[in-house]
Amino acid sequence: MIPFKRMMRLLAIAVGLLLLAGCSQRDTTTQSASQKAPVFSFDKAAVAEAKPWTSENFANNPREFQFAIIGDRTGGANVQGTFEIAMNQLNMLQPEFVINVGDIIEGYAEDTKELTAMWEEVEALTGKLEMPFFYTRGNHDVSFPGGKEEWARRHGPNYYHFIYKDVQFLVLDSEDSSRPEPPPEIMEATKVYKKLQVEDPEAARKMLAEFMKSDAIVAALGQPVEFPNEQLDWIKKTLAEHTDVRWTFLFMHEPCWENPSQSFKAIESMLKDRPYTFFAGHLHYYDYDKIKGREYITIGPAGASWHHDGPGNVDHIMWVTMTEDGPQMANIALKGVFDRKGLDPSLFGAYDRKGAATQDAQGEAKK
Ligand SMILES: [Fe+2]
Repeated sequence: MIPFKRMMRLLAIAVGLLLLAGCSQRDTTTQSASQKAPVFSFDKAAVAEAKPWTSENFANNPREFQFAIIGDRTGGANVQGTFEIAMNQLNMLQPEFVINVGDIIEGYAEDTKELTAMWEEVEALTGKLEMPFFYTRGNHDVSFPGGKEEWARRHGPNYYHFIYKDVQFLVLDSEDSSRPEPPPEIMEATKVYKKLQVEDPEAARKMLAEFMKSDAIVAALGQPVEFPNEQLDWIKKTLAEHTDVRWTFLFMHEPCWENPSQSFKAIESMLKDRPYTFFAGHLHYYDYDKIKGREYITIGPAGASWHHDGPGNVDHIMWVTMTEDGPQMANIALKGVFDRKGLDPSLFGAYDRKGAATQDAQGEAKK
C-alpha cells in the first residue's frame, strides 16, 4: 500500500505535469495564432473612420495564380535578340511559370552538330528563368530530318499535360502528322536572311516578303493540321481522367481553328462539356477569335519575323491570371517592360522593327 504522504506527492507531481502540459498546449496555440498574423494591419487609432484606401479585399486568393505565355522566337529570329531580352523581363515580372507556343529554334539544321548548337543556345536563354519554362513543339523545332529525335532526347514526349492548382494544361503537338516537306532552299535561305538582317535590313525584309509568297509556304500555311489517332486517344483519355478541374488550357503551335481539320473538330468535341481556352502561335501575329463562346488566341511573336501589317505585329507576352471566375488575360508589349534603372532607348531596336509586309506597303506608297 502506498503511504498517504507519498500518494499526495505523486498526485502533486501528476497535477504539475498536467498543468505543464496545459501550459505547453496554450503556448503552442499562442505561437500558432501569432504565426497567423493578419496580412494587412494598420494604426487603427490614426485611421479610425475615413480611410485613405478603397477596400480591404486584397487580390490574394491562394487559389489564384499567374503565368505567362510567350510566342515564337524563330522563323527568322530577329538579330536584336528580343527573346533573350524577354527572359530578363519575365524574371522581373515573376510569373509562376512560362509556356511557349513553339518555334524556339530556327531548325532545318543540316547536321546534328548544328542542331545541338541551336538547342544549346536556346536552353541557355530559358535557363536564365527563375521559374519553369514549358516547351511546345513548333515546325521549326522538329519538322525536318532528325528534329523529332532530338526533341525526344532533350524534352521527352511530344505532347503532355499537367495540373496546377486544379487547372489542367494540355500541351498538344500540331506537328505530329507528316507535314509538307519544307522547301529545300529553306536552310540556306535562313542563313542568308540572318546575315542580311545585319548587313542590309531592307534586303532582308524584301527577301522575307518574297519567301512568304512562295508556293511552298502558301500551301503549307493553308493546309489543315491533322492529329494522329494516337494523340487523339491520349487527349480523350487525359481529359476523361481529369473531369474535376476548374479550367482547361490547351497549347499547340499552329492555330488549327483557322482551318479546322476533322481531327481538330474531334478534339473540340471532346472539350464541349468543360470550360477551356486554346492558345497557339506560328503566324507571328496576335489574333483573337471567339468561336461558339470559347476563346482561341494566337500569340504574337517574341522575336520572330513579322509577316503581316497591322496591330498584331507586336512582340509581347500574355499574362494570365487564373481567378475563381476563369482566366483574366493581359497582353504586355515587351517594349513596355523596362527595369528599375529606367528606359533604355537602345533596346527599342528589338521592338521597333518593320515587317516584310510593311516594307511592301511602303514600296507601294512610293509608287
Ligand atoms: Fe511555326
